[in-house]
Amino acid sequence: MAENNNQQGFFGSILSLPNDNPKKTIIVAALLCLVCSILVSTSAVVLKPLQIANKEADIKKNILAVTGLLTEDGDVNALFEQFEVKVVDLETGAYADIDAATYDQGKAAGDPEQSIELSAEQDIAGIGRRAKLASLYLLKDGDEISQVVLPIHGYGLWSTLYGFIAFESDFNTIKGLQFYAHAETPGLGGEVDNPKWRQQWQGKKAFNDNGELKIEVVRGHVDFKVAGAEHQVDGLSGATLTSRGVSNLVNYWLGDHGFGPYLKQMNAGMDKAEK
Ligand SMILES: Cc1cc2nc3c(=O)[nH]c(=O)nc-3n(C[C@H](O)[C@H](O)[C@H](O)COP(=O)(O)O)c2cc1C
Repeated sequence: MAENNNQQGFFGSILSLPNDNPKKTIIVAALLCLVCSILVSTSAVVLKPLQIANKEADIKKNILAVTGLLTEDGDVNALFEQFEVKVVDLETGAYADIDAATYDQGKAAGDPEQSIELSAEQDIAGIGRRAKLASLYLLKDGDEISQVVLPIHGYGLWSTLYGFIAFESDFNTIKGLQFYAHAETPGLGGEVDNPKWRQQWQGKKAFNDNGELKIEVVRGHVDFKVAGAEHQVDGLSGATLTSRGVSNLVNYWLGDHGFGPYLKQMNAGMDKAEK
């Protein structure tokens, strides 16, 4: 019998035990766990580069969409080549001399060395802290900048909304606004993705003639008879809190603690160039 067990080997001897044997139950369960964990970790490792590539492609697609350059059959990577990626120091508004292609603003925002903590008064977007350096995307027509795309994010009602806002060459007229990630309620706050609502942002002016930041999402509808309508967008009905969140996050990122210093410098440069 002992000789027979040796011939069967360890697994054979386990499998030949009756199914209600506790030793067999424990060993089979442990082997099953081992096989499953190897399968799960292998697929996680193998699929990771694909996930990263898909995420990058989605970001590029959204940048193209917010500038109006996304076409149904266009190659996203090829179309995205039109953009020049830059990194800006938010405090000074000057371009930073680092490799923009590899800079990860999201990662930097979580690193105390590369980010700053926002006071309650500053933090109207509900983000806690922000990276010192921010990425942006320039679309050029020859040497002239024709559009600039800025990444923005902030809290709505249930979630942080991540998106982009694009400006025309005056660094004041909005070309588009688009969110690529959020968890607001579909049909309520989720209407931030409604093309009709997004369309309203096109042509709005972020700053008034005195350079003051005026853009806002109003409660209800914009009254075009009243001065200031060029800075206003309709609120989302039944989603006042998400609407307020969007208004706040746009104001944060275009304000003095966000891209404000950069936009003002670029806008002043445009004025001089035109004179
Ligand atoms: C299930 C559920 C989901 C909701 N989702 C949202 C949402 O995504 N965004 C939002 O602003 N309000 C949402 N609300 C409504 C808010 O609780 C709040 O009533 C609303 O923002 C007030 O907007 P109103 O003054 O336009 O009605 C939701 C309410 C319920 C019951």
